[in-house]
Amino acid sequence: MANMEVKTSLLDDMIGVGDMVLLEPLDEDSFINNLKKRFDHNEVYTYIGSVVISINPYRSLPIYTPEKVEEYRNRNFYELSPHIFALSDEAYRSLRDQDKDQCILITGESGAGKTEASKLVMSYVAAVCGKGAEVNQVKEQLLQSNPVLEAFGNAKTVRNDNSSRFGKYMDIEFDFKGDPLGGVISNYLLEKSRVVKQPRGERNFHIFYQILSGASEDFLCKLKLERDFSRYNYLGLDSAKVNGVDDAANFRTVRNAMQIVGFMDHETQSVFEVVAAVLKLGNIEFKPESRVNGLDESKIKDKNELKEICELTGIDQSVLERAFSFRTVEAKQEKVSTTLNVAQAYYARDALAKNLYSRLFSWLVTRINESIKAQTKVRKKVMGVLDIYGFEIFEDNSFEQFIINYCNEKLQQIFIELTLKEEQEEYIREGIEWTHIEYFNNAIICDLIENNQTGILAMLDEECLRPGTVTDDTFLEKLNQVCATHQHFESRMSKCSRFLNDTSLPHSCFRIQHYAGKVMYQVEGFVDKNNDLLYRDLSQAMWKASHSLIKALFPEGNPAKINLKRPPTAGSQFKASVATLMKNLQTKNPNYIRCIKPNDKKAAHIFNDALVCHQIRYLGLLENVRVRRAGYAFRQAYEPCLERYKMLCKQTWPHWRGPARAGVEVLFNELEIPEEEFSFGRSKIFIRNPRTLFKLEDLRKQRLEDLATLIEKIYRGWKCRTCFLLMKKSQIVIASWYRRYAQQKKYQKIKSSAIIVQSYIRGWKARKLLRELKHQKRCNEAATIIAAYWHGTQARRELKRLKEEARRKHAVAVIWAYWLGLKVRREYRKFFRANAGRKIYEFTIQRLMQKYFLEMKNKMPSLSPIDKNWPARPYLFLDSTHKELKRIFHLWRCKKYRDQFTDQQKLIYEEKLEASELFKDKKALYPASVGQPFQGAYLEISKNPKYKKLKDAVDEKIIIAEVVNKINRANGKATSRIFLLTKNNVLLADQKSGNIKSEVPLGDVTKVSMSSQNDGFFAVHLKEGSGAAGKGDFLLSSDHLIEMATKLYRTTLSQTKQKLNIEISDEFLVQFRQDKVCVKFIQGSQKNGNIPTCKRKNNRLLEVAVP
Ligand SMILES: Nc1ncnc2c1ncn2[C@@H]1O[C@H](COP(=O)(O)OP(=O)(O)OP(=O)(O)O)[C@@H](O)[C@H]1O
Ligand SMILES: [Mg+2]
Repeated sequence: MANMEVKTSLLDDMIGVGDMVLLEPLDEDSFINNLKKRFDHNEVYTYIGSVVISINPYRSLPIYTPEKVEEYRNRNFYELSPHIFALSDEAYRSLRDQDKDQCILITGESGAGKTEASKLVMSYVAAVCGKGAEVNQVKEQLLQSNPVLEAFGNAKTVRNDNSSRFGKYMDIEFDFKGDPLGGVISNYLLEKSRVVKQPRGERNFHIFYQILSGASEDFLCKLKLERDFSRYNYLGLDSAKVNGVDDAANFRTVRNAMQIVGFMDHETQSVFEVVAAVLKLGNIEFKPESRVNGLDESKIKDKNELKEICELTGIDQSVLERAFSFRTVEAKQEKVSTTLNVAQAYYARDALAKNLYSRLFSWLVTRINESIKAQTKVRKKVMGVLDIYGFEIFEDNSFEQFIINYCNEKLQQIFIELTLKEEQEEYIREGIEWTHIEYFNNAIICDLIENNQTGILAMLDEECLRPGTVTDDTFLEKLNQVCATHQHFESRMSKCSRFLNDTSLPHSCFRIQHYAGKVMYQVEGFVDKNNDLLYRDLSQAMWKASHSLIKALFPEGNPAKINLKRPPTAGSQFKASVATLMKNLQTKNPNYIRCIKPNDKKAAHIFNDALVCHQIRYLGLLENVRVRRAGYAFRQAYEPCLERYKMLCKQTWPHWRGPARAGVEVLFNELEIPEEEFSFGRSKIFIRNPRTLFKLEDLRKQRLEDLATLIEKIYRGWKCRTCFLLMKKSQIVIASWYRRYAQQKKYQKIKSSAIIVQSYIRGWKARKLLRELKHQKRCNEAATIIAAYWHGTQARRELKRLKEEARRKHAVAVIWAYWLGLKVRREYRKFFRANAGRKIYEFTIQRLMQKYFLEMKNKMPSLSPIDKNWPARPYLFLDSTHKELKRIFHLWRCKKYRDQFTDQQKLIYEEKLEASELFKDKKALYPASVGQPFQGAYLEISKNPKYKKLKDAVDEKIIIAEVVNKINRANGKATSRIFLLTKNNVLLADQKSGNIKSEVPLGDVTKVSMSSQNDGFFAVHLKEGSGAAGKGDFLLSSDHLIEMATKLYRTTLSQTKQKLNIEISDEFLVQFRQDKVCVKFIQGSQKNGNIPTCKRKNNRLLEVAVP
């Protein structure tokens, strides 16, 4: 199963038949019906063997998507339903893998879809061939050459909105890997008459409309054009706009494509300038002007247009104007100039426009070829795509149609030749006998046209080259003479009387029975068009243009290269190029796409039987089928054949081990197919009749259904079985899981019950054990207690006994000691005098003292009087000694300390000592004064010149000079005074002036009073009745109160030998004149810092607020 490859076939899901060779019965009706059926089902492609019939769907079908490309890629031709991609793939692979050059011949009438088909082939090949930056650029350039050529070479006709008005053959070149290298385009005969005139309902070439619609204002201005189509005579007005065609957008596409193909900006510009010049040429009009000789001469009506053309092309206006008015004929070194009449002038103008345009077109092809040329010189494989104008039958058919139809005849010819050849070759290759087939060979028509002596083209050339008057009528006459007897030539005037009364054939026409039908040609214009004459004056004028492109387009205008030889006629040129083309095609492997137009309305979904029938006929498609199945209708390689039908025979199904051919033989024998119905080739089986094939297909279908049923049956069985097995397996799994679960539950229940029972038993056992243990423990404890009591009793008894024994022993020992002492004393008494004990005692004491002092010596504290350390006393009996020693030592070290003092220091310490005795523990101010040295003379009277007077007034030694506050007795306010203490006096002087205010001898000072608090307030009491005591006692305040009081005390003592009374009390009396006033110290606020404030409260009270 795994390696069973799914092979599809053309025969699968066929609508009608995919290959016309399988058509049964084969006739025109069934052929058309088959096409129609397929067309109605959107199957626009049908095969005749390897030929693809393509019916134009006239709408976009979703069958050209990249997915489709992938679907057809590398698949065999008959493997999938018919498609142009299958043919493209076959051609590309055979080119790449078998190294065979290919050509794709696309034929069909105008509007049948040839150009579209050619583009589809190219895009398919581009999609499947190699990739890479360089290759992609080549592909892009090849593909983008199409829009450029279509813009310049296609036009709207009544048959086709995008009709190719030139033939195109493009060789795409590949390298050995199948990567595209480049390409060469050949163009055939552009229908240039369209430039100057278009049939009703048709347009000029697309490019003119594209420029006018799509170019910017600026660009149009540069080209001197106006957007309005109606301004230009060359643009047919009745169908300027084509439905569904956006000229403006197409213009942008074309410019873009030109850029991709490699046109330089200046080249593009030049090309559009030429197009503009052509368009403007049509607007030049002529008027007749009578000349002296009576002849009319043409003159340009309005020279404005001419001027602009000359500006565009860089031609001297006078040169061009003259070329439109004169014609110079050169013959044998003679130059004759004749004037042109109006008709000739118009002819000249149109000829110039046509030539300019057609030469521009050829230049474009050459320029594109330059761009897409393969860059390497390695050997190339070639795929040619031929998209040539289709067979054309108009109401008025002229030279162009004649040429076009000739080309189609030639293609039909090559088709017949190559198809037959191929068929024949296959039969020979496969070793099958070839039988001759009847078919119409159009070689005879080709001969009628191209025969070198009697061919129509040869005759036309002959007429054109003949001296004398040559007209289209003389040409027709000649035809009537030469071709009259030809089967396919018809003319009213021919010698042959067949058409004398045929009124459908006008006198000025001839008719040719082409392979595709009869076409009547108007001879008018044949000679001119074949001559394709451009007056030399015009080509010379063009050559003189400064526009480099125009100059290059008219090389024959160069006077240095005048060639008097006539240029080859259009007909002969075309014949030659067609011959070259045919030769080229014959060297390649042909692939045919035969395009069919389903209706004349360019409409989707309409299938016009008659029109299709006509095309089938002239394309010879039925004959094609007949040729294809002349011997055998169907052929297939053995492998795919066996693969497809092997299920029809038990021996070959499901596997055939032998060679495929043997398998097919067995298969056909088994199926009892009559022997005349098939033939075995070398690699293929050939089936004579489609019926046989269809029978095989029916059998296969039936068998496939049976097989499908079988497979279905087996599959269903397999599926059910698998499902059942799966369910069974699942059931087992579920059951096992469930059982496990149930058992688990049960087990857990049992387990928990067991645990409970177990725990009860264990508890009971444990309790029992505990009871036993407890009992045992109690027994043990009782035993222990009893034993302990017993041991205790024993021990106590023993202890009691031992104690008794020890007491006894001790008593014995004491008694024994006393007894011994007594004995010893009694014995030794006689050795000691009465005071021996005292001596020993003293000696011991002495020794102890000695030791004491020696130890003390080492333990002495420092000599600092304030060191409080003193070693501990060793013996109690030394207590008083130890204290005394400490006191002596202290006194001694104090003396030592004092001995170091100078007299000055001594004095200070004496004073300090005095102060201590007077104030320590009495006045709160005292402790603060201990650290302050007593300076006495705070004011340096002698040094300050301010106090010179004061100094002079006091001639004694000054002990204190200090500023104090004297309290006003009346209001308690303070005034600064200098306080001086000399040996004999106390003085108060003004602080500023130094004038002495009061002077009191020391003998008059009786007492000094002060508070016990932390203030410097003090009163100096004076002896009543003394000179100084007039106003009363002094109330003073000083920061150095302690020092002042001390010094006053000492000085008074030394001078008067009387101790000054110092009263320390918070309330004392002072004498103010006659009043005794109480000074009382109260607790004041902190406001004034440490300075006390005094307030005289009344006559009896002065309050001092102390902080
Ligand atoms: N395969 C297709 N799918 C859809 N539309 C198509 C297809 N082939 C052709 N057409 C339509 O038909 C129109 C005519 O086709 P195309 O130009 O290829 O004809 P032609 O055979 O080249 O005619 P002519 O001989 O006048 O150049 C196209 O413009 C397009 O609209
Ligand atoms: Mg075309």
